[in-house]
Amino acid sequence: MDDGAQGTDAGGDERTRQPPSDFVANANVTDADVDAAFDATWPDCWRRAADLLDWERDYDDVLDDADPPFYEWFPGGELNASVNCVDRHLAERKNQVAIKWIGKRGERRTYTYLDLHREVNAAAAALRDLGVEEDDVVTLYLPMTPELPITMLACARIGAPHNVVFAGLSAEALSTRIDAAESEYLVTCDGYYRREDAFNQKSKADNARLRLDGDLEATVVVDRLGDELRTPLGDDEYDYGTLIDAHDGETVDPVARDAGDLLFVMYTSGTTGEPKGVEHATGGYLSHVTWTTEAVLDVKPDDTYWCAADIGWITGHSYGVYGPLSVGTSTLLFEGTPDYPDRDRVWELIDRNAVTVFYTAPTAIRSFMKWGEEYPANHDLSSLRLLGTVGEAISPRAWEWYHEHVGGGDCPVVDTWWQTETGAILLATLPGVDAMKPGKVGPPLPGISAQVVDERGDPVDPGETGYLAIDRPWPGMLRGLRGGDERYRREYWEETDDGWVYHTGDGATVDEDGYVTVLGRLDDVITVRSQRLSTAKLESAIVEAEGVTEAAVVGDEQGDIYAYVTTKSGVETDDTLRETVADRLEYEVGPIARPDEIVFTTELPKTRSGKIMRRLLEDITRGNEFGDVSALRNPEVVGEISSAVE
Ligand code: WTA
Repeated sequence: MDDGAQGTDAGGDERTRQPPSDFVANANVTDADVDAAFDATWPDCWRRAADLLDWERDYDDVLDDADPPFYEWFPGGELNASVNCVDRHLAERKNQVAIKWIGKRGERRTYTYLDLHREVNAAAAALRDLGVEEDDVVTLYLPMTPELPITMLACARIGAPHNVVFAGLSAEALSTRIDAAESEYLVTCDGYYRREDAFNQKSKADNARLRLDGDLEATVVVDRLGDELRTPLGDDEYDYGTLIDAHDGETVDPVARDAGDLLFVMYTSGTTGEPKGVEHATGGYLSHVTWTTEAVLDVKPDDTYWCAADIGWITGHSYGVYGPLSVGTSTLLFEGTPDYPDRDRVWELIDRNAVTVFYTAPTAIRSFMKWGEEYPANHDLSSLRLLGTVGEAISPRAWEWYHEHVGGGDCPVVDTWWQTETGAILLATLPGVDAMKPGKVGPPLPGISAQVVDERGDPVDPGETGYLAIDRPWPGMLRGLRGGDERYRREYWEETDDGWVYHTGDGATVDEDGYVTVLGRLDDVITVRSQRLSTAKLESAIVEAEGVTEAAVVGDEQGDIYAYVTTKSGVETDDTLRETVADRLEYEVGPIARPDEIVFTTELPKTRSGKIMRRLLEDITRGNEFGDVSALRNPEVVGEISSAVE
């Protein structure tokens, strides 16, 4: 095993890891002065990203900042996203696999770039035939089947922004998002498999339709389940397969879109209730996503790349669909779950498909740790050459586990920080350039300017906690909120003496080398004897204890600390472990952090995108009423935890 050189920081006992030399030899970005080069020519430096794309009409300028915070990237440019993700690869790799799909029941379907071109065109022709015109929003409510990326690209081809709603969301969530986006077209499916059972998706879509303020012009239904579930089609409802057959072989001229035209809208629930429709523009978004897929995830056309995120979330949009297809690589699309039929499913797929680049979330890595290293150990994972993570802070221990047991000790691990709103990665190490520090995200990428600031907006000292702020615009940024210019300005932006600043809402620290550690949402702080402690900091201390896999910390009204902890299978959850956890907290944070209660549980309540629902745990701890838990991925744990607390 070759870790590359290892060193220690001047400041402490922290481990840093240099990128392995054989990785660097083939990395996409290796110029050590890339940061300085971007800085020296900002914003012109971003041509480097835009010029990775094929433009129908060249852009006149890189950035129009006449009306902040409404920035326009690459004004004057025209392009089509489906051309960039499909057509332009036909010349050199039409027979190369674009998407390899693995269904929940082990079904397999492979689309070459030529196949993809054919079906995207047929789907585009069908949508147009149903009446979809440029700028009409099409809502997509589909599980992880090839029809989801295909209809996204078909929409992009005809200039119709898509509005993907995660398939697991409720009828109510779907109807709210259709109404808010003023969408009159829906693509859904009859149903899909959840573990063994066929599940009726169409009936959820029907319920959503009944709740709409507006109405749908047309609904397209993908037949996922065949004879298992026959859903009769009503008026204005069309079978996807029949439409594709009818339009097979047709080509649709791609609509040239202005760089600033809407590519898609994506609703995030955020912390404030009412979902926000985050809008992404075609030119800036695709440039930034393509550049970071190359520069951070180091993806090349001959990779077999797997982003495990659901396409229903932003990670799946940017790094499951647009980024990899724009780069022209082969991607895996997996409909199943990592523990079905067994807990080695992910490793089996990496082994069998010789996956080279794998991108997942800390929540998944913590599950893998909990299940045990024997699962990855039973497979040949030597094809892997880069690992990525996104979505939450990754603890040093989880980072090391991923690096060692999945990466075999010789793959760089890139921890990537970004948001639905940022569209693409803003903070990460460049795997061919920067040293990695387990548990720290890394510096802002070239061309990105981020600061950790205090309440007044002044940069904090290294090691001090502050707010993560971005003080220059970036190409992948949201162009606004749907129907909410005022809300966009108010929720994210502040005009300061030094210009406009974007507030991420995340707490962070920065070290002497400019490496940022993101602590999570700022509201995730508890006050203990008038000291503000970051829950993320407490939790990462707990998960450093041997045998522990996940932790969530909340405070009650008295300022007592409650720690909810899950462990590896087979670990004794007794007072000895409680003592170990408490000692760990005392050692890492101080005596003030010794918890008042430690509750062991089999799972922590999680949102569908895998984030721990700390607010719900807080309600349980404080004995408050808690609302609807159906939005959780695992509502069944709520009862278990409540009774444990009682
Ligand atoms: C958190 C997901 C720590 C953060 C792409 C951010 C992270 C929110 C990281 C956005 C990371 C994302 N380290 N925290 N590497 N990546 N986050 O919109 O709180 O689903 O603001 O986008 O996830 O979540 P979203």
